[in-house]
Amino acid sequence: MKIELSKTIKNIPENVFYPIFKLISDESSNGNPLLNAGIGVPDSDTPELLLETLEKSIRKPENMRYGAFDGKNELLEEISHWLKKTYNIDANPKDEIALVFGTKAGLSSLPSIILNPGDTTLLPVPSYPDYIQGIALAGANIEEIILKEENSYLVDYSSISSELAEKAKLIFLNYPSNPIGAVATKKFYEETVQWAEKNNIIVIQDHAYSDFYYKDGVSPCFMQTAGAKEVGVEFFSFSKNFSISGLRIGFAVGNKEIIKALREYNTIFHANIYGAVQDTVITALRNHSELTRHIKNTYRTRIEKITRKLDKLGYSFYKPEGGIFIWLKVKEGFNSQDFFELLLKKYRIVTMPGHVFGSGGNNYIRLSLSLSNNQIDTLIKKLEQLNKDL
Ligand SMILES: Cc1ncc(COP(=O)(O)O)c(C=O)c1O
Repeated sequence: MKIELSKTIKNIPENVFYPIFKLISDESSNGNPLLNAGIGVPDSDTPELLLETLEKSIRKPENMRYGAFDGKNELLEEISHWLKKTYNIDANPKDEIALVFGTKAGLSSLPSIILNPGDTTLLPVPSYPDYIQGIALAGANIEEIILKEENSYLVDYSSISSELAEKAKLIFLNYPSNPIGAVATKKFYEETVQWAEKNNIIVIQDHAYSDFYYKDGVSPCFMQTAGAKEVGVEFFSFSKNFSISGLRIGFAVGNKEIIKALREYNTIFHANIYGAVQDTVITALRNHSELTRHIKNTYRTRIEKITRKLDKLGYSFYKPEGGIFIWLKVKEGFNSQDFFELLLKKYRIVTMPGHVFGSGGNNYIRLSLSLSNNQIDTLIKKLEQLNKDL
């Protein structure tokens, strides 16, 4: 029998990371060790306190049974309390917060919840590539908005034509951003709310790197902005800040109608997030400051050390103000794929070629800051050698 798959699944673009991971995996089985500066998660260990909580929580009989679809009330209340304490956001745990099975799942679900086939989504690029598949699943179209360094990689709403704004139904934002490391400002979010209201466009802000913010204070939060709840939702992840990306949990906060629909959508595919995972993140939130205190200084020190050297080696780059990456311009005469392959095959350095992050990435590579001091030294030595060879 010939199995004919649906148009929906056939129309979903291949995950852009597959061919890249394949190349990396072929190289890794080929002798010399690789230095992994491509990695998208922090290198710190999962805090002992969270491992202990998880261990204890798997013994609780209630966690081995089906749980409440929308999650434990204790967790929803803790998130609400944490949002108030950290960002001064009022979010009702009953109807303004939805748990998601990792923000990747939530971000991929929202287009199907909001868009009809043929609708238009605005996608500022370069961006995290996983938004694209969720948009394709909804059968919606993408219009890329190229982010520019002269605007600190913030969306310049005045450059979006009124025809495009009229046509669009949804925009994805991501600050602190992957791959660039740009961060938002309070003023930018105020403009975002005004523009979204005027044009009737729903805003999804992906705050997965909320704790990776290297200016003073906390990362500006879209939901802190007056009127934000009227126009959209913001996603938070537990993966990066607590080094628990394997547990698959995050949440969205904001507009009641979207949150209600997201909760309903989740129940179609899943019963509930594993109770022991929920218990673990309750502990994470209660100890948030203590467990994430190291992040600012660790990454600031790494950024200073690497960018000083990159400067000396004649590279141009965007000095990140958030996130865990450096967006590095490739050497003259290369494109992102060539330079990525040169680094991989000859210098044994894994990076990510910029083209996978959409238009505007073709002359860049993404370098991860998830590197120990020794690894940074090795990276610099290899790049010095590359300079001599070129
Ligand atoms: C910008 C961005 N958003 C979302 C995610 C997904 O995170 P999670 O582990 O919560 O699914 C990632 C992971 O790399 C990311 O870089």
